[in-house]
Amino acid sequence: MLFKNNTLICAPMAGITDPVFRSICKEHGADVTVSEMVSVDGIVYGADATFDLMRFESTERPIGIQLFGADPQRFAESTALVAQRFKPDFIDLNAGCPVPKVVKRNGGASLLKDLKQFERIVYAMVNASSIPVTVKLRSGWYKDQWVDVDFARCAQECGACAVTLHPRSQTMGFSGHSCWERIGEVKQSVAIPVIGNGDILNGKDALAMLRQTGCDGLMVGRGAYGNPWIFSEIRAVISGRPYTPPSSQEKLRLALSHIEHYRYTYGEYRAAREMKKHVSWYIKGIPGASQWRDRIFRAVSTDELSGIVRGVFS
Ligand SMILES: Cc1cc2nc3c(=O)[nH]c(=O)nc-3n(C[C@H](O)[C@H](O)[C@H](O)COP(=O)(O)O)c2cc1C
Repeated sequence: MLFKNNTLICAPMAGITDPVFRSICKEHGADVTVSEMVSVDGIVYGADATFDLMRFESTERPIGIQLFGADPQRFAESTALVAQRFKPDFIDLNAGCPVPKVVKRNGGASLLKDLKQFERIVYAMVNASSIPVTVKLRSGWYKDQWVDVDFARCAQECGACAVTLHPRSQTMGFSGHSCWERIGEVKQSVAIPVIGNGDILNGKDALAMLRQTGCDGLMVGRGAYGNPWIFSEIRAVISGRPYTPPSSQEKLRLALSHIEHYRYTYGEYRAAREMKKHVSWYIKGIPGASQWRDRIFRAVSTDELSGIVRGVFS
């Protein structure tokens, strides 16, 4: 069973959870990974960039490919194509993305405004798919007008095999704290596994969420920024084992190999640009980090970024 017994999942994050980042999280204790969100419109139009987002290495399994969009027919076509061509372990529906670009085209969290349309989409995906379908929800469009229980029940009735809940409304964006009590409410309302998500920044948070909500698995997003060790920390804490945080040498080694792996996969130009944020996350908390960060954002090559990392940790 994919999502039972405290499964640890690396959250889908557009622009972050590419195959390189996902592999690193997997090596550091994530049980399951999920692709960045992929547009069903892009799939139906056959856009190359869209197809690139769905590639993964077998070491990342079990992996889900996440789809977003608004049209049930496109979801059906995309689900069938993705299952057949990419053969992930599951296909996830994005019913939570709050960003204007997505919601103004009625995708992501917009789906939470129309239960009937959501039902049509989940049903279309399950019918078109030879592999499990999961759903990732926010708790509603407006704060305190929660629809998560109704949507989770509907997903279950349509045949989804798990739901993930990020208990914020669309209008909250990423502000405040996620409302973990909603995860407990949803867990009480469905029989399929419920994965809790939102504001897990260390092992203690993870244990608190498990105890407070009774959820079956945990999904970690921003807490893994520059800290993929969070997955092994969580595993240690929830199993009652001691956890030793990474040394400076381990951080140095991982940051350098992340830069190198990214450059090898995507080339120098893209690596020099995209690795800046990762490098600045790896050095978070180090004395003088803000001055280093200025240098990182002025850097023009991966050699320069690697040099900065060596300077920081030496
Ligand atoms: C930069 C960024 C990109 C994200 N992209 C996606 C996405 O593609 N699909 C999705 O379902 N959620 C996406 N999310 C939401 C995360 O998966 C997660 O639900 C949210 O960050 C809360 O978890 P956290 O507090 O552990 O970060 C994204 C979040 C961030 C910060």
